[in-house]
This record gives sequence, structure tokens and C-alpha cells, in this order.
Amino acid sequence: MENTAKITVKASGTYDILLAKGGLQHIGQAAAERFKPCKIAILSDDKVFTLYGKTVMDSLQKAGFTTVSHVIENGEQSKTLDNVTEFINTMVGAQVTRTDMVLALGGGVVGDMAGFASAIYLRGIPYIQVPTTLLAAVDSSVGGKTAVDISAGKNLVGAFHQPSMVYLDTDTLSTLDPDVMRDGFAEVIKYGIILDRNLADTVARPGTFDLEQVIARCISIKRDVVEQDEFDKGLRGLLNFGHTFGHAIEKLSSFTISHGSAVARGMVIAAKVAAAYGYTNYTNAIAKVLESYGFDLSCPYSASDMYNVILSDKKRSGADITLVLPESIGKCVLQKMPAMQVLELMKKVRL
Ligand SMILES: NC(=O)c1ccc[n+]([C@@H]2O[C@H](COP(=O)([O-])OP(=O)(O)OC[C@H]3O[C@@H](n4cnc5c(N)ncnc54)[C@H](O)[C@@H]3O)[C@@H](O)[C@H]2O)c1
Repeated sequence: MENTAKITVKASGTYDILLAKGGLQHIGQAAAERFKPCKIAILSDDKVFTLYGKTVMDSLQKAGFTTVSHVIENGEQSKTLDNVTEFINTMVGAQVTRTDMVLALGGGVVGDMAGFASAIYLRGIPYIQVPTTLLAAVDSSVGGKTAVDISAGKNLVGAFHQPSMVYLDTDTLSTLDPDVMRDGFAEVIKYGIILDRNLADTVARPGTFDLEQVIARCISIKRDVVEQDEFDKGLRGLLNFGHTFGHAIEKLSSFTISHGSAVARGMVIAAKVAAAYGYTNYTNAIAKVLESYGFDLSCPYSASDMYNVILSDKKRSGADITLVLPESIGKCVLQKMPAMQVLELMKKVRL
């Protein structure tokens, strides 16, 4: 296939991320070059499957694979253990074996669920990620974090399970709702601020850059981080920039504020907290970029309410909280501090 760029990830499994603009109908060929003919169990959501399900199934079948599909209702509320069980029942019914594969066709919800189902079905079978949102393209489809939500919290049940291939056709992003696309840009901007000044400068001017190249850069950054810290013991924590505060906002809003919008607000709060802690103040610079994408950066919650949610966050260890703070644009650091200090800093700044 011409015009396909490849980024290889060397983690506990080695796999290719293929950037095949306009190439969704060639996914079967890419799979056949890497895997023996087998059964592929596709998990998708109703919106995405209607748009792209047939193209993917036709291509896989033409390349010698058999397919079975399982479609869930779109949205975060579907990322449940019950839905994973139902998908697994579909696989049992279709006699999917350990030499077969799962394929996630959709955004982060489908990707996380399919990844988790493939991590636990028959104690683990391989899976392919076909991300169709910007967030899934630059973030959730790479790195092998899989999970579902339970009533106690988001992503509390999951596994590390690397995909065997990621196949991205960026043309699929053209059908995204503008709000969903914007959510993805929160993660793109995040990569620039944490690790890449050039990327931060590039995306500071919406509409002036090549999206393919920006996506490839984000994936490369995530690849580098995952290769160094696959199991999230240190460096990978940098990818949580804006997420500690963002998750609290998401939860306090009962998930009516979307993930991307909450992370955008969280990045600005992190910048304010960093300044209150003694770092140079980058709040205005970060807020300006986010506002140019149309993000609402207001925080409707008090420091105390946010703090209580942060305390129950799974990423807290002991009495300390590790925050990701911008030291400069393009360089963030992990700063561990007593939980009470986080509350004091939050109270000091105007959220
Ligand atoms: N595993 C990880 O490392 C990781 C990282 C970040 C986020 N996540 C998870 O990702 C999830 C969010 O992912 P998301 O933002 O992609 O949400 P999503 O999967 O819910 O997709 C958002 C919406 O876009 C629709 N959609 C998807 N692709 C489309 C397309 N091409 N055209 C039209 N509509 C399309 C979906 O049907 C859905 O309604 C969360 O559950 C989050 O926890 C995981």
C-alpha cells in the first residue's frame, strides 16, 4: 500500500501503527501481511459500525479472514463489564479461539473495551485497534491500557495488553462531530506542552498545520513514553497532565462535561497550581491555545469538592499526590507532594 506511514512500538509486544490515509478498504491486506488467516471478532459502536463496518468486514473477508461483529450503543455509558461479557458471549457463540483475533473499530470506548475483552478471553488473545476518533488515534489506541468503568469509578477494571496492530485511516475523522474532534485536540495540545515545544508551537495556530503529521508526531511521543515505561511506574505519568484535575471535573459534572473539555480545564488548573508552587507561570499561554480551539476553561467546582474527588482517584498512592506540572512549554515534570499541599495550592489560585 502506497502512502502508508509506519511507526513501530517495541513494548512487551512489538507492533506496527499504520497511518493509511484513505486506506480503510485495504485493512485486510495489512492484516494478511502480518497475521495468518483467522476469525476476527469486531467490536464497534452503532454510529461507527454504520459508517465503516461494511468497508472493514469486506476488506478482511477479501483478504481471507472470517468476521463476526458485535455492536454496542455509542457512548461512555456502554464501557461496562456487562457489555464485555456480552461481547465475550458473542465470541464463544462464534467459536473464536486463541489463534483468532479481536478488532476494535471506533473511538476510545470501543478500543478500551475490545482491548480488555481480548486481554481476558481465553486468558488473552491478540487484537487490532482501528481508531476512528482523534483521541483514539493519538492516545487510547496506542500503549496497551485497556479498561472498563464500574460504579465506583472510571477505568477501575482493566489490564495492560498491547495490540498486535493499529490501523489508522485519518479520513474517518472527517465524519466526527466537531465537539468530539475538539476533545481530541485537548490530548494533542497536551503532548506539545509535556514533551515537545515544536509541536506546541505548531498546534498553537489551529487550521495551519498538516493533521496527519501532527497525529504521527503525537503517536511517536506516546510510543517513546510507552517503550520506556510500559507499565506506568514513572515517566508514563506525564501523559496525565491535566488529568488529575480533569477527572475530578468530569466526575463532579456526572460526566456531562466531556473528557477532552475536562482535561483542557485541568491543564489550566495544573498551570495555575504550578505557578503557586513556584514554577514560572504558563497559565495564559496554555489557556490561549486552548481557547483558540473553542474550549470553555471555566471550573464550576470549588477547591474542596475537587480535592475530595482527587483523594479517591486511583492514581494517588498513600498520602501523597503526584501532579504533572509545566516547567516550561514542552517540558513537564512529575511533582510528588503531600495531599494537603495540593488542597492548599488549589485554594490559593482561582480555579
Ligand atoms: N486506553 C487509554 O490509554 C486511553 C487514553 C485516553 C482515553 N481513553 C478512554 O477513551 C474513551 C474516550 O474515547 P473517545 O473520545 O474516542 O470516545 P468514544 O469512543 O465514545 O467516541 C466519541 C463519539 O464519537 C463517535 N465516533 C467515533 N468515531 C467516529 C467517526 N469516525 N465518525 C463519527 N462518529 C464517530 C462515537 O460513536 C461516539 O459517539 C474514554 O473511555 C477514556 O477513558 C483511554
